Amino acid sequence: MSTLDELRTTHPEIAADFTIPQRWNDYRASEHGIWRTLFTRQAEVLSGRACPEFLEGLTKLTLNSDAIPNFEQLSEQLSRLTGWRVVAVPSLVPDDVFFDHLANRRFPAGQFIRRPEQLDYIEEPDVFHDVFGHVPMLAHPVFADYMQAYGKGGQRALKEFGALKNLARLYWYTVEFGLIASSEGLRIYGSGIVSSRAESIYALESKSPNRIGFDLERVMRTDYRIDDFQESYFVISSFEELFAETYKDFAAIYARLAEGPVHRPGDVLPEDRIVWRGTHAYRAGSHAVA
Ligand code: PHE
Ligand code: FE
Repeated sequence: MSTLDELRTTHPEIAADFTIPQRWNDYRASEHGIWRTLFTRQAEVLSGRACPEFLEGLTKLTLNSDAIPNFEQLSEQLSRLTGWRVVAVPSLVPDDVFFDHLANRRFPAGQFIRRPEQLDYIEEPDVFHDVFGHVPMLAHPVFADYMQAYGKGGQRALKEFGALKNLARLYWYTVEFGLIASSEGLRIYGSGIVSSRAESIYALESKSPNRIGFDLERVMRTDYRIDDFQESYFVISSFEELFAETYKDFAAIYARLAEGPVHRPGDVLPEDRIVWRGTHAYRAGSHAVA
């Protein structure tokens, strides 16, 4: 992550809230082509794997393989559904800036698209991860409220508690890598999974990772890996449950968390509600968020 001053050298038009113009007309045909390739292969892999709410979001927002979405047009559609908008940013933004956007129902999305040799792996979120991965869920009213509550919770944590690690783990294991037990079976909703072909399959079908029933404090105590597929996924039973669990006052929870243990990504605890215990046979180096 860079400071505003550093970013000004590559993005002279960056605003104080770290937003930049998307400049949709400046995308090259080859860049729309990368979107098309990624969209097409994810649409295929996600049928029967992504949760219905995600797939409905894609449809309601008329997201398609034609071209990188124009954020203005997308925001018009999204704001009619849930009041959210999508704004362009150069890359990851500082925590306070990120929380302020979410608290005001603005989703900051990377403006650039990955290069052809990065189809399966990028280090910083690009427009495919951010728009294809995150925005469909923002069309769902309960998830939309959860994301805003998260932003407000982040602002509060910064001001009152200082520690953001617990909150970051919650984001990681829900927004980025969450699974849901739908009536049809286990499904994906986390953006880091739905935007990655390999992890979409791995998260649901591999024997390797643990799938553990969601428990707020358990999740907030669990470290995560940013450089490989996850060793554990946490499974919610509904978005209403997720919202209800996180809408309570975290003050007492933060106090408890400060005392107790931190778990490693692959740990399984006696009190865990195991949905599917992993063998952890898989280890292969860098995969991470795509
Ligand atoms: N309920 C949390 C608090 O009191 C805020 C929050 C809501 C955090 C939703 C994450 C998700 O701080
Ligand atoms: Fe993300």
